Amino acid sequence: MRVYFDYNATTPLAPGVADTVLRVSQEVFGNASSIHHFGQAAKATMDEARSAIAALLNADPSEIVFTSGGTESDNLAIRGAAEALEQTSRRHLIATGIEHEAVLNTLRALARRGWRTTLLPLDHTGIVSPDRLRDAIDADTALVSVMHANNEIGTIQPVAALAAIAHEHGALMHTDAVQSVGKIPVDVRALGVDLLSLSAHKFNGPKGAGVLWIKRGTRMQPTVTGGKHERNRRAGTENVAAIAGLGVAARLAAAKMDTEGARVGALRDRLETGILRAVPGTAVNGARDARVPNTTNISFERVEAESLLIALDLEGIAVSTGSACSSGTLEPSHVLKAMGFPPHRTQNSLRFSLGMFSTQDEVDRVVDALPRLVDKLRGLTRKPVTA
Ligand SMILES: Cc1ncc(COP(=O)(O)O)c(C=O)c1O
Repeated sequence: MRVYFDYNATTPLAPGVADTVLRVSQEVFGNASSIHHFGQAAKATMDEARSAIAALLNADPSEIVFTSGGTESDNLAIRGAAEALEQTSRRHLIATGIEHEAVLNTLRALARRGWRTTLLPLDHTGIVSPDRLRDAIDADTALVSVMHANNEIGTIQPVAALAAIAHEHGALMHTDAVQSVGKIPVDVRALGVDLLSLSAHKFNGPKGAGVLWIKRGTRMQPTVTGGKHERNRRAGTENVAAIAGLGVAARLAAAKMDTEGARVGALRDRLETGILRAVPGTAVNGARDARVPNTTNISFERVEAESLLIALDLEGIAVSTGSACSSGTLEPSHVLKAMGFPPHRTQNSLRFSLGMFSTQDEVDRVVDALPRLVDKLRGLTRKPVTA
């Protein structure tokens, strides 16, 4: 039996999603821009998914823009707003050091084109203080981008408070909600943001489908130019089958949010306390209260996280050292680094992320295997262990 505890990298499909994707691929193959019956059937399928996502976010369907996923949504949010505001005197962008690379590298690209960028500092909690934003924001700030939940440690940012500060200064507010949508309630009106990114494959939908929610009236330039798709906001023939799968995943997430959140949260807590008890020299990274229910990130003293990841994989247990994009390299976690942790801690931490098909048996198996594997690795390093 293999254990998959890497749901923040990607998730298996929810029941019904694969059937829908296959059925729509075969039966609803029209181009949603065509005016004949086949095109209108595709448009109706997309509109159904649009309504499902809008309901999940408390948004209006006309504000939903389908994209290829979280990375494209983040790019469209930041580049699209920046380009729209390029004519004004606002040439400053703000984010935090713990954003996903989709945000950080987009900011770096804009910095090369003359934009001033500021990354807000964080402490060991992994939660940004609104005061840090007050210190950094000025009349030049065009956009503030702060993620809702972090992909490595799961902490939830005070997005509503940050959005209020951004708006006081006339700046737009974007949040990357790729790791919160489907796990906790996400209400665009309550968050008070202008732009919100999500990705289907992070909540049991198919890969290659995402959304940028754009508040009505927000000035944006498209980044993918071409036809008039998605109300001129994202050109290109839509991936109707994947969008339909996204809609099914959204409806299921909305229906099961409370029960699944509680179930997965209890499993995560059992895993976390089990590991802290069974393995000396362990600690949780980041605040434990304001977190999505499925994620824990644990530091193992005197253990190379990559070695532990491989040892676990050999036992059939899949976890992660951080974001999937940086795995396969020995780069320390930029998230833990931005939180001020010393180099050894950024390299001895593992992320466990649970989800829809996780069970108590799997949790107990991981808690059972870890002390043996950690002891072995610590023996190999021949260093004394401090509990
Ligand atoms: C916080 C966050 N933002 C953006 C992305 C990118 O999403 P996608 O894989 O759909 O491009 C990810 C995926 O790892 C993520 O965790």
